Amino acid sequence: MLSWDEFEQPSQESKKSAEPRPAPETLTKEVSEPGAAYESHSAPASPAAQSTVSTAPASDAVEAARAAIADLDPAPGLEELEMGAARIQVDEKRIINCRADLNQLVPFKYDWAWQKYLDGCANHWMPQEVNMNKDVSMWKDPEGLTEDERRIVEYSLGYFSTADSLVANNLVLAIYRHITNPECRQYILRQSFEEAIHTHAYQYCVESLGMDEGEVFNMYREVPSVAKKAAWSLSHTQSIGDPTFKTGTPESDQELLRNLIAFYAVTEGIFFYCGFTQILSMGRRNKMTGVAEQFQYILRDESMHLNFGIDVINQIKLENPHLWTIEFQQEVTQMILEGMELEVAYARDTMPRGVLGMNANMMEEYLHFIANRRLSQLGLKEHFPGAQNPFPWMSEIMDLRKEKNFFETRVIEYQTGGALQW
Ligand SMILES: [Fe+2]
Ligand SMILES: [Fe+2]
Repeated sequence: MLSWDEFEQPSQESKKSAEPRPAPETLTKEVSEPGAAYESHSAPASPAAQSTVSTAPASDAVEAARAAIADLDPAPGLEELEMGAARIQVDEKRIINCRADLNQLVPFKYDWAWQKYLDGCANHWMPQEVNMNKDVSMWKDPEGLTEDERRIVEYSLGYFSTADSLVANNLVLAIYRHITNPECRQYILRQSFEEAIHTHAYQYCVESLGMDEGEVFNMYREVPSVAKKAAWSLSHTQSIGDPTFKTGTPESDQELLRNLIAFYAVTEGIFFYCGFTQILSMGRRNKMTGVAEQFQYILRDESMHLNFGIDVINQIKLENPHLWTIEFQQEVTQMILEGMELEVAYARDTMPRGVLGMNANMMEEYLHFIANRRLSQLGLKEHFPGAQNPFPWMSEIMDLRKEKNFFETRVIEYQTGGALQW
């Protein structure tokens, strides 16, 4: 910790400034070096001009700047902000259409959102920390993987390398401005960074394995079972991303809910599950363990994104019960089923035969189980009564107590992490 005594000592910077200035020739030379080109467009300043910068009378530009701030309106462009109004009461906070000041994080109303932000930060990781050496030799060895296993790696990286960008873009370009609660926005900012890390992780896998980047990153436009999932997500981002879109009517509020359900419950809650299960099953068989480890970290983040989204949707329902009509509930049920069907088609395309102890029929059953889960999380009736989970180990991986242990380990590592290699 700094003590007051240290403030008494001249800093390196001020010591430097006390030293005699270099000769004018030296200054001119520095300015004309490559990298200083932004300064070299004007003629070299005279030594007199250089030494009078801090004492010269204000220039016209500084006068203009002073005049501009003198007239500054203290309630600038924040049309919803009432200057001098009473301080924020926690009861005024709402997830959508909130009129209270959005720049004040506290007092918290939604502790779950803040807690998820803290948990997300404690879970911080970077793709380069995962050792990919074994994966590289396995991928390059013609006997390392079967054709069906290679197909799974290619499709997974093909879908996910762009899917997380779709999610990130939806967060920052579509929903962020319509979620009018600072603690939720805080989590959305954290989630956006995590989506960037996920895209980085997929890119890192593609680069490490020396895969054809053009082919992998274009699968979401060129391979039908991948492209349909991406197109379905994108179709739900367009209206909210329109700069003229505003919430505040039952129709537009329902449109925002559709977007949240499409991204949190379907894209992150269904579309990720076939690929995650396939890659994690590979890792359990000691194949492509680096890729599998990356996917495991990502799955932990994604479970939290999903849970945050479900909480946000349910809170909006609670605060705006008029939006949750019978017709709208039917529509949401259909959205979940559409997502499930697209994921089943993806499972059939990626698993024409049994592979890694699973097949497309087992995945279909799993996706029925997942669809039931999403429906009941949203307060809707399950559509596939009695559907079982054929991959109980997936639930174990997502087990929250394990997640907690994982977080604790990571936090300890980072707190003592002076030796972290970048
Ligand atoms: Fe992600
Ligand atoms: Fe996510």
